[in-house]
Amino acid sequence: MLSWDDYEEAPSNAQADQAVIADAVQKQMESEAAQRAAEQQAAAAEQKAAAERKAAAERQAAAEQEAATPAPVVAEESVSTERVTVDQKAMINCRADLNQLVPFKYDWAWQKYLDGCANHWMPQEVNMTADIALWKSEDGLSDDERTIVKRSLGFFSTADSLVANNLVLAIYRLITNPECRQYLLRQAFEEAIHTHAYQYCIESLGMDEGEIFNMYHEVPTVAEKASWALKYTKEINDPGFTTGTVDTDKTLLKNLIAYYCVLEGIFFYCGFTQILSMGRRNKMTGTSEQFQYILRDESMHVNFGIDVINQIKLENPHLWDDEMQASAKEMILEGTTLEVGYARDTMPRGVLGMNANMMEEYLQFIANRRLAQIGLTEQYPGVKNPFPWMSEIMDLKKEKNFFETRVTDYQTGGALTWD
Ligand SMILES: [Fe+2]
Ligand SMILES: [Fe+2]
Repeated sequence: MLSWDDYEEAPSNAQADQAVIADAVQKQMESEAAQRAAEQQAAAAEQKAAAERKAAAERQAAAEQEAATPAPVVAEESVSTERVTVDQKAMINCRADLNQLVPFKYDWAWQKYLDGCANHWMPQEVNMTADIALWKSEDGLSDDERTIVKRSLGFFSTADSLVANNLVLAIYRLITNPECRQYLLRQAFEEAIHTHAYQYCIESLGMDEGEIFNMYHEVPTVAEKASWALKYTKEINDPGFTTGTVDTDKTLLKNLIAYYCVLEGIFFYCGFTQILSMGRRNKMTGTSEQFQYILRDESMHVNFGIDVINQIKLENPHLWDDEMQASAKEMILEGTTLEVGYARDTMPRGVLGMNANMMEEYLQFIANRRLAQIGLTEQYPGVKNPFPWMSEIMDLKKEKNFFETRVTDYQTGGALTWD
């Protein structure tokens, strides 16, 4: 029978039990914590091992890929760690560090980069309202004028992509001079702006985009020009192509002549003249203004390309032999013939105060200039410029706009300022 004493004892017994339980619980908790810590340690070890296995696999894959990849084709693989001096710099096949922009060797290239930046513009800054109204009105333009607008946008909308791709995928890699590459980067962006401008016109006028962008496949006189240029990019566009032999250096030189002297230097001129002539007659003034800015950029591209060609000739006189000179002449004459064909196709009769015969003479005048610019004899003696106003547009400083509006300066990040 329990006495009070027992009863009194009871709490002390209970306390003892609780202490035992607490101790057991404590041990249990410690054991569980130890187990958890061990598990976490094991998981961390496994994670580390997995990361190491993954890194090893990646190293292995990279090593395999490196073994399978052909050696880099440009000069950079043997970049020197020495400071670059001016006399180490060269247009092609240069082995000096191409990451050092200065000291400049070709000041003209850097100056053209600065001039290109000073001429910056964007297509959306040009007002297209009058063009949209004129294009949509029934009797705003004649059928011949409509053909000219469509063919010009059809040719140029893809031609500038051909130029940009040739620049970025072929020329940039093979011209081994940093100040020239700096200009090439600027030119590449300008080509993007030009393609944007054509797209902006096509969209504003509500044209059939499929029809316009496929003209370089579907309209023979447009397709002939595009495929002529593509022929000269095929070989050097190959990532395995490299310069360094007489034959490959000549292949690059021919590409430069094809793109700068013929594509940008002749193939653009019939379309530019036609559209700018429209603007002079107060028709399609927004489109004409876009073309005016593009022409200003393009004349700088051509001048840059000609300087590059002449510099390569100067540094590598053995490349400019009889065979190369004959090829260059033939290319310019072929290009002129194709552009005259385009002029006849787009102007079956007189339009906008001009006709195909006048355009032929103008193109021969331009071809003479291209020949002379790279040191060849003019091939069309006695021809005159029937469109002297084209030279005025090209020579305009950025302060003046041909269509009476006046651009004072380009403000980086802002709009053109018009008075
Ligand atoms: Fe362009
Ligand atoms: Fe261009």
